[in-house]
Amino acid sequence: MSEQRVNFGSKLGMVLATAGSAVGLGNVWRFPYMAGQNGGATFIIIYIVCVLLLGLPCILGEFIIGRHGAANTARAYSRISGGSPWRFVGYMGVLTGFLITGYYAVVSGWCLQYIFASFMGELNGDPAYISRYFADFSSSPLRPVLWTVAILAATHFIIIRGVRQGIERASKAMMPTLFILLLIVVVSSCMLPGASKGVEFLFRPDFSKMNGSMLLAAMGQSFYSLSIGMGCLCTFASYFSRQTNLVRSAANIIAIDTFIAILAGLMIFPAAFSVGINPDSGPSLIFITLPNVFQQAFASMPLIGMLVAVLFYILLSLAALTSLISLHEVSTAFLSEEFRMPRPRAALVITVVCSVIGAFCSLSIGGRDWLVVCGKSLFDVFDFVTGQLLLPFGGFLTCIYLGWFAPRKIVRDEFTNWGTLSGRFFSLYLLLVRFVCPICIMLIFLNQLGLIG
Ligand code: PHE
Repeated sequence: MSEQRVNFGSKLGMVLATAGSAVGLGNVWRFPYMAGQNGGATFIIIYIVCVLLLGLPCILGEFIIGRHGAANTARAYSRISGGSPWRFVGYMGVLTGFLITGYYAVVSGWCLQYIFASFMGELNGDPAYISRYFADFSSSPLRPVLWTVAILAATHFIIIRGVRQGIERASKAMMPTLFILLLIVVVSSCMLPGASKGVEFLFRPDFSKMNGSMLLAAMGQSFYSLSIGMGCLCTFASYFSRQTNLVRSAANIIAIDTFIAILAGLMIFPAAFSVGINPDSGPSLIFITLPNVFQQAFASMPLIGMLVAVLFYILLSLAALTSLISLHEVSTAFLSEEFRMPRPRAALVITVVCSVIGAFCSLSIGGRDWLVVCGKSLFDVFDFVTGQLLLPFGGFLTCIYLGWFAPRKIVRDEFTNWGTLSGRFFSLYLLLVRFVCPICIMLIFLNQLGLIG
């Protein structure tokens, strides 16, 4: 069926690498502020339902296509679809992954800067100062660009070592570290006076606050957080062995991703509530609200405050890095396989091109006119086009393809590992990818275009 391809060396490595792709800024940054804006516990419950009904089938879909194809995302879609026009969904996945890499690297670079800024005490000051600090830093011409290049370079050096020695080893080291740092910050945050109000906000649902836009926000977040629709999961699945239980792996990954998102909430809300700051400030949450929170919450123990802040930004950077690796791998695998390029050279091309894209995205934040497209900065354009248009669109087409057009036998064989695992849930799976997922994704899509909600 397909040529021998390198596989992940162990089950643990495979799960950690794939979970590393999913666990990223989406968990630590986007999830808490979305929950904050949408009523806390109620949002979380809806989110979990979305992850199960929507996220799980979509992840599984990418796994099926990726493992069957045993090649980069574009070729994997070509293989399963026998070269029909459906293969363009694969190309679109690669393009989305590629475009998002540079812009994701910019935000990841900010996290690196904030490790140093908190360590050097540069973030000490009143709220107006902290907000100005972020505006000045993110719009300055040089520093954010250097950090963007730095984190892409780190990604590059992991990628060129290959799947086992690079991606798998790095994930095995970084994911447990991230988890331990997260626990330390959660415990420090929950021990603050008045922290229980934050915990309550997270876990006591108020269903009267439920509404349609909350539902759409939760669906969108589940997609983003699980890295669906960008070729990452499909590319990683091409390195899975024939023994890998795809259903169980997908379930493990959503469990880890959701658990980490909730822990991130437990890190942020108790601290924010303890100093009376509302954690619903949107994207500025981690770079403006949190430095304030850390400073005020630990006002009587500044050293501990500094330490907690440094650990927080380290864990954020680790989460970002593991996601960047998976994004980078999508394009590197594509380039090296489709253009027969040695892997290090393919990686270098991607690193350089993404650094340039990242640099332009970063520069566009300073309101430089030549980087404004349709009234939006280039940074916002990338965010919108990739995260809000291409991503759900790719997920939608993948579900339609798998549910209605893909050879049923291949899908079933991959689902059951050629009949060796139970196929009990297969009909349920088909029902989800044929009807439930496409309809829900369509709704997210229309909402993001501002047409409903
Ligand atoms: N899932 C990642 C997160 O939660 C974001 C991401 C999207 C990573 C797409 C890779 C690909 O931050």
